Amino acid sequence: MKIGILSAMQEEFDLLLSEVKDARRTSLGMREYIEGTLYGKDVVLVFSQWGKTASASTTANLINVFKIDRLIFTGVAGGLDAQAKIGDIVIARRLFHHDVDASPFKRRYYVPLVGADGIASDDQLSDELSSAAQKFVADIAQYISEEDRAEFSLGDVAVHRKNIATGDQFIKTDDVRTRIMTDLPDMYAVEMEGAAVAQVCWEHSIPFAVMRTISDTANEHSPMDYPKFLDRVASIYSLYIMKNYLESL
Ligand code: ADE
Repeated sequence: MKIGILSAMQEEFDLLLSEVKDARRTSLGMREYIEGTLYGKDVVLVFSQWGKTASASTTANLINVFKIDRLIFTGVAGGLDAQAKIGDIVIARRLFHHDVDASPFKRRYYVPLVGADGIASDDQLSDELSSAAQKFVADIAQYISEEDRAEFSLGDVAVHRKNIATGDQFIKTDDVRTRIMTDLPDMYAVEMEGAAVAQVCWEHSIPFAVMRTISDTANEHSPMDYPKFLDRVASIYSLYIMKNYLESL
């Protein structure tokens, strides 16, 4: 079985790559695809670049060129729900495009082939990833320093299985945040790739899961040091959750 691991951030990709054995590199469509073994399992790693088109084209290549059997997507997201704290983990249940509107021809949020009810992630894969994330959270003190846990308030990290909204915008105002939450059902987090990756996987019957670390609250109040969070928190989450997952297979 070959597992595609698609990272939304260069920092995550670099850290995963440092653990790959027998790495073989292929350049295709302005991406570097790395085939090799990670914790004893066959993987293909790639940095998606940002946004729906970039992540969809990378996913299509993982499926059609690299012949992956399943796909895991990792990255960060803005929290929409009031319960979503920075540092929490969200594993997608359903993914929706929040920026699709072909009205009056179709109702708002209708996506060709998919419909308007979002795309469901694979339950088994998402459950396995949730278990790997729970194990990581239980052991978090082994992986993230006390200083960084204090700086980013990672005292009580939760793992959620919730809906994710995707669009080609970084959400940074309460107006847009509220519009997404009002119009779409039970959105927990917002990001820029998940539904696009989900749609391509769904079209090709490839089981997929989307995992995101909450990095901000998708409004004006995100005071944190973003690069530091990516380096010292989100990338570490991705590496060790993937390790737990791969070692559990
Ligand atoms: N990824 C991380 N935070 C985000 C936000 N606020 N909007 C869109 N994508 C994100």
